Amino acid sequence: MEVQAYGKLNLTLDVQGKRPDGYHNMQMLMQSITLADVLRLEKRGDAELRVQTSLSFLPTGERNLAAAAAICFWKALGQARQGLNISIEKHIPVCAGMAGGSSDAAAVLRALNAQEREPFTPLELARLGEQVGSDVPYCVLGGTALAEGRGEILTPLSPLPKCWAVVCKPEFSVSTPELFARIDHVRLRCRPDTRGALEALRAGDLHGVARRMYNVFEDALPHRQQLRVAQIKNALIQCGALGASMSGTGPTAFGLFDAISPAQEAAERLRDFSREVFLVQTIM
Ligand code: C5P
Repeated sequence: MEVQAYGKLNLTLDVQGKRPDGYHNMQMLMQSITLADVLRLEKRGDAELRVQTSLSFLPTGERNLAAAAAICFWKALGQARQGLNISIEKHIPVCAGMAGGSSDAAAVLRALNAQEREPFTPLELARLGEQVGSDVPYCVLGGTALAEGRGEILTPLSPLPKCWAVVCKPEFSVSTPELFARIDHVRLRCRPDTRGALEALRAGDLHGVARRMYNVFEDALPHRQQLRVAQIKNALIQCGALGASMSGTGPTAFGLFDAISPAQEAAERLRDFSREVFLVQTIM
């Protein structure tokens, strides 16, 4: 079985405080994009679970979130684990704030659920994903959604009007737990207008959403990295982006465009900043 695992962008991201369990309460407007990993799942004759990816430095075996998702699925079904080879062709940048690993895990959950003739509803499957990672429930459902709590409280929203996104992953990576630790100690300059963005979305107003995009993690990045993200966002705006922001815990920055030609021009310009530049579309 072959499945696509779509990446996501955070149109808004707000951290609303640390919880007693160590996680943070979030409020995030999430959007799926066409940039996707491709997973191939193949039954094995034995009970082994093997993961291999096109990037040699990623974990194979049970430390990979895709394997964790398969284990979680069989456990929830109350069945013995079945032998499986999962091969992942990576296209979503890694450690980039685009939920690459979570989206691979979600794709495994969806594929196994389809193979077993849908024992779980999409919402039940999303709830299962919570055990694998905070972004997995959203990745199971995809589209445009508000994610709250740890990320697992999902409200599906009317789709973002069709647009293009230019996505640029600078040539450094950030550690998600490290950035969460830093955000507890930085003074946030501003917060996203999530309510305004939701109203704009309801009205089908792409410009209104794009204008309100903001991610509080930008303030938690080390100074030099923060500057790099700001340069990328400036370049995107200069090329005609309707708005620009960082996704997740970064460092990927992106801009939204309502026409393809300025988006192509922006993608061309950003190749001076990084080799990992993508021109993608949003998915409903
Ligand atoms: O849930 P997940 O394994 O994806 O989270 C990775 C790390 O990110 C957690 O260990 C935690 O440090 C941090 N995190 C958080 N609050 C969230 C989600 C993640 O503090 N809502």
